[in-house]
Amino acid sequence: MCHVNGSEAVFPIGKLDVKAPNFLMDPAPATTAACAACHTTRSSMAHMSSNTDPKFGESCDTCHDVNGKFSVLKEHAK
Ligand code: HEC
Ligand code: HEC
Repeated sequence: MCHVNGSEAVFPIGKLDVKAPNFLMDPAPATTAACAACHTTRSSMAHMSSNTDPKFGESCDTCHDVNGKFSVLKEHAK
């Protein structure tokens, strides 16, 4: 929502959860919260939730960071 020059591909890994009382997921882990600003569907939530481990946290960068097969830079350029 707020980033330019590709900085949206630098995920807020390890940052605090986001409190969002009016949101489907509350609190939302940091990367999930950033992506869910626009990707708001229940299926999107299910995808983000199921890719978050209770012990190790979010795995988003595995697939969506700059080097990922599904990098946001590539996906958003389509
Ligand atoms: C500012 C709004 C916005 C944010 C924030 C955002 N997206 Fe998107 N995203 C879109 C839009 C609009 C599309 C469809 C159009 C396009 O491809 O550019 C899209 C498409 C995608 C797609 C392709 C699949 C599809 O549904 O079309 C993926 C994957 C994706 N986004 C991942 C992410 C991830 C991961 C994040 C967080 C790091 C994120 N997005 C954050 C707006 C956003
Ligand atoms: C194992 C690989 C993998 C992981 C890990 C992963 N995703 Fe995805 N994600 C995908 C694929 C594949 C798609 C569909 C891409 C397409 O349609 O081109 C997708 C789609 C998305 C979309 C678009 C969904 C929509 O409804 O339009 C968002 C947002 C997203 N992922 C966010 C995340 C977040 C946040 C995380 C971490 C909590 C995450 N993903 C973890 C592979 C992954």
